[in-house]
Amino acid sequence: MTTKNARELTEASVEARLAELLQQERFAPQEAFAAQAEITDPEIRARAAADPTAYWAEQAGRLRWSRAWDQVLDSSEAPFYRWFSGGTINVSDNCLDRHVEAGRGDKVAYHWHGEEGETRDITYAWLLERTARFAGALRELGVGKGDVVGIYLPMIPEVVVAMLACTRIGAVHNVVFGGFSAGSVAERMEVSGAKVLVTADGARRKGRTAPIKPSVDEHMGPEAVPSLQRVVVVRNTGIDVPMTDGRDVWFDEVLEAADAVDPEPMDAEAPLFILYSSGSTAKPKGILHTTGGYLTGASTTHRQVFDLHDDDVYFCSADVGWITGHSYIVYGPLANGVTSVMYEGAPDYPHKGIWWELCERRGVTKFYTAPTAIRACMKWGVEHVAPHDLSSLKLLGSVGEPINPKAWLWYWHVVGGERCPVVDTWWQTETGAIVITTLPGLDAAKPGSAGLPLPGYEVQVLDAEQGGVVEEGEGLLAIPRPWPSMLRTLYQDPDRYVSTYWDRFGPTTYFVGDSARRDADGYTWVIGRVDDVINVSGHRLSTAEVESAIVAHPAVAESAVVAKADDLTGQAIVAYVTLQGGTDASADVEAEINATIADRIGKLARPKRIVFTQDLPKTRSGKIMRRLLRDIAEERDLGDTTTLADPSVVDQLQQRWQQG
Ligand code: WT7
Repeated sequence: MTTKNARELTEASVEARLAELLQQERFAPQEAFAAQAEITDPEIRARAAADPTAYWAEQAGRLRWSRAWDQVLDSSEAPFYRWFSGGTINVSDNCLDRHVEAGRGDKVAYHWHGEEGETRDITYAWLLERTARFAGALRELGVGKGDVVGIYLPMIPEVVVAMLACTRIGAVHNVVFGGFSAGSVAERMEVSGAKVLVTADGARRKGRTAPIKPSVDEHMGPEAVPSLQRVVVVRNTGIDVPMTDGRDVWFDEVLEAADAVDPEPMDAEAPLFILYSSGSTAKPKGILHTTGGYLTGASTTHRQVFDLHDDDVYFCSADVGWITGHSYIVYGPLANGVTSVMYEGAPDYPHKGIWWELCERRGVTKFYTAPTAIRACMKWGVEHVAPHDLSSLKLLGSVGEPINPKAWLWYWHVVGGERCPVVDTWWQTETGAIVITTLPGLDAAKPGSAGLPLPGYEVQVLDAEQGGVVEEGEGLLAIPRPWPSMLRTLYQDPDRYVSTYWDRFGPTTYFVGDSARRDADGYTWVIGRVDDVINVSGHRLSTAEVESAIVAHPAVAESAVVAKADDLTGQAIVAYVTLQGGTDASADVEAEINATIADRIGKLARPKRIVFTQDLPKTRSGKIMRRLLRDIAEERDLGDTTTLADPSVVDQLQQRWQQG
């Protein structure tokens, strides 16, 4: 599709322009953008900082509460903070009923686009009708307040219906990304005690149909997940799947049969959802978010950072299975009554320009994606972008990992036509909502830096040894004040919540787990994780989790997993593996190890490279020296290796590495 606004972009012209732009340190908002921006008051941060609880109360007040709160912030049991205590609110009411009652039922919530070119316009009224009925169906299946409902679905509108239906009756959803394996879903269902799982017959991926239900059956029998009573199956691909009598029901049938139910007023601190995320150990952390504070944080930040206007068409390319999808595909956009584009497929299917085709076709104004995707687009070439008229775009967002200045500039020049502010948004599953970025109508962006804390937040860089505040320089990122959308605990593991986030700096300063640099203007430059979390294409994985999947293979004796810098994915996984005596390294063993990882975690956790070795570099006390393994993979000089029990191990490893 070539249109009148196609631009004359060639690789050479882009390369030349990026070389010029690389000289520019700051990108102030364009006048045309600033003139229409919602937030232009340079004092907004100072005003919020003068009285943060009053500021957050004002933001929360934009939502519809069924009962007003008694106290904005209760810190009496820090670090178990409570926000809006005494208040009651329902999330689905705020995302749906409120808009429909205001006469906006016909507004499109999602322009859904399927892989094969099909499209569905999902209105707010439609979503409300389905959500209210599915909430009734869940109740009839025995789901009550506080019960956990697993959701394992592809990017289809039903995933939103399932999530909102849970919030309507106070059930706690536990969404698992469709790219994770059924084995990993089973683990997350088991540890969260899920009562019901909502899944699909199958999913479509790049023109093929992958069955989901059969693998769910295989991994989620009564022994594996004793709490699981019901499985609700969305007819998505229409493939034939086995249904277990008395346990499995079809989504459309239970929905048809059910009566619509009204939103249940929920305590502001009632659990809203659990999202499992990787930490330092092999056991994923069940990050728990609650109702009133989370919705306040997600809706406020979405409105501010994306400079929302009523006629916006917003497109976030994430998957709902991640926190980005929760906060910025579902809750933020719906609470704000926005029209979004939802795309089912991969960014390169049916062709490498599909995102830009959708932007053109739907007149997308705000687009939000990840640095790894931008780098992939750069690699695919400007010819996939140039034919599309992207003149509707007004703002571009980035999330998931530090964005390298070149990718930032490419995004700004090629996609945004040097017209659209780029907001680099730093946050985490734990923070629930964006914490650091630039306000697009107000702040200059510096490519590579996320920017400044949003109003109502405070962020610090602390000295790693002394803990003192670093005004300018490197240290550990910390948030020294609670915020409404912060995680409340780790599900059924409050001790781990305290030890992971609050032991380092005490119960009032949240330990982020990232290192960062603060510059003279107070801008934050995130460097990366300081724990054993790896970030592959913005997907968070733990080295321990991958190691334990690898050693599950019977031939493996020991494994050490490290992250290596990667031009495309940010970081890539490298696994060093020793085999049991008697097993020789071979392509077969390697393929089996990869299959084990795919089965236990998901394909996304397969290493970029597996290096078989006789031995791992260990200290005399037997500790694996991961730093050396990273140095080998990044082909750096190894420096001092004399503390190793057997220094010759690293020479062998270096040779192995170079042999490829
Ligand atoms: C970790 C959180 C927030 C949704 C996606 C990831 C890294 C995230 C940025 C950014 C530099 C970033 C951090 C953080 N990260 N956004 N804009 N610049 N780093 O959520 O899976 O919970 O991962 O992602 O290291 O701690 P997550």
